[in-house]
Amino acid sequence: MTEQVSFHDHKPTALSLYDAVVSGLSQADKSIPPKFFYDKRGSELFERICEQPEYYLPGVERRMLARLAEEIATLTGRGRILIEPGAGSAGKVRLLLDALRPAAFVPMDISFDYLKSSAMDLARDYPWLEIHVACVDFTHSLPVPEEIPEGPRLLFFPGSSLGNFDREEAGDFLRMVHDTLGDEGMLLIGVDTKKSESLLNAAYNDAAGLTAEFNLNLLHRLRQELNAELDTDIFEHRAFYNVEAGRIEMHLVSRYRQTLCLNGRSFEFKAGERLHTENSYKYAPREFIDLASGSGFNEVRHWVDDEGLFAIYLLTTGELS
Ligand code: AVJ
Repeated sequence: MTEQVSFHDHKPTALSLYDAVVSGLSQADKSIPPKFFYDKRGSELFERICEQPEYYLPGVERRMLARLAEEIATLTGRGRILIEPGAGSAGKVRLLLDALRPAAFVPMDISFDYLKSSAMDLARDYPWLEIHVACVDFTHSLPVPEEIPEGPRLLFFPGSSLGNFDREEAGDFLRMVHDTLGDEGMLLIGVDTKKSESLLNAAYNDAAGLTAEFNLNLLHRLRQELNAELDTDIFEHRAFYNVEAGRIEMHLVSRYRQTLCLNGRSFEFKAGERLHTENSYKYAPREFIDLASGSGFNEVRHWVDDEGLFAIYLLTTGELS
C-alpha cells in the first residue's frame, strides 16, 4: 500500500494573500487573483456551486467523460503516464482510469494535505494504480517526479480551469504543457464554450446564492487572516458575461464609499467601485483549436455535447497519423 503512492513536495513558493492584496488594491482598477478563493471554506463553497443546476459545467463534462472514456482510450492507447494539474479531489479522473489503464498517475496541486488524502482514497479504490503525488503551483511549473516510469504522457486538464488565464497566459500555459509532454504526448482538456448570455449569466448568479457567497468569502479571508478592517456587508457580488472580451467577469462592488485598512495602509473605495476577482474565458471550438495550435498542438478530435454547452479536446504534440 505505501509503495503504491509516493510523495514529492516541490514547496511551491505561493505568493502570499497579503502581497497579492496589497499589490491588487494599489492599482487603479482593483483586483485580487481568483486562486485566493480556495481556502477551506472557499473550496467547500466551490464544491456546492458544482451541484447547482445553473452551474452546468461539471455535470455536462462528467456525463461526456463517462460516455467517451472508451473512445478516448482507443485514441490515446493504454499505459500512458497520466498527469493532472490541479487534481484536487481527483474525482473526474475516476471516470477514465478503467478505460485508460495508465502506467502511473501524477496528480499535482498546491495543497499537499488535500492531495495526499485524495491520493490515498484513489489508491484504495484502484489497487493496480501507481500514484506519484506532486505538490506544485502548476500555474508556474509542471515538475514531473524523476522516478516516474518512461513512456508516452497524457495530461488531463478538466473543468475549464484554463478559463482563468487570459489569452496570452493560456497560450503560455499550453506551451509549458507541450514541453512537459515531450514527443508523442497528448492533452485531454475540458473547456467551456461560448453560448447564450442568459445561460452564462445564470451559471455565475445561481439562485441559491452560492456563487455570491464564494465571491464574498474573499473579503472574509481579508478580515480573518490579514486583520483587515472593512465593512463586508456593503460589498455585493456582481457577475456578468462581457461579450467583447468573451469572458465572465466577477466583481465585488462597494455600494458606498469606504476605506479599507490593512496593516497601517488604507485603500479607498468610491461608491460603486469594483474589486475584480475573476475572469472566466469561454472559447468557441475554432478559437480554442487555434490557440492550442499556436502552442504547438495538433487536434486529434474534439467533442461538444448535444446542447453545445461544453467541449472536450484531445490534442497531440506529435504528428497526426
Ligand atoms: C474553476 C475557474 C473553472 O470559472 O467557472 C465557478 C470557477 N467561479 N463559479 C469557473 C468559478 C465562479 C470556475 N473555474
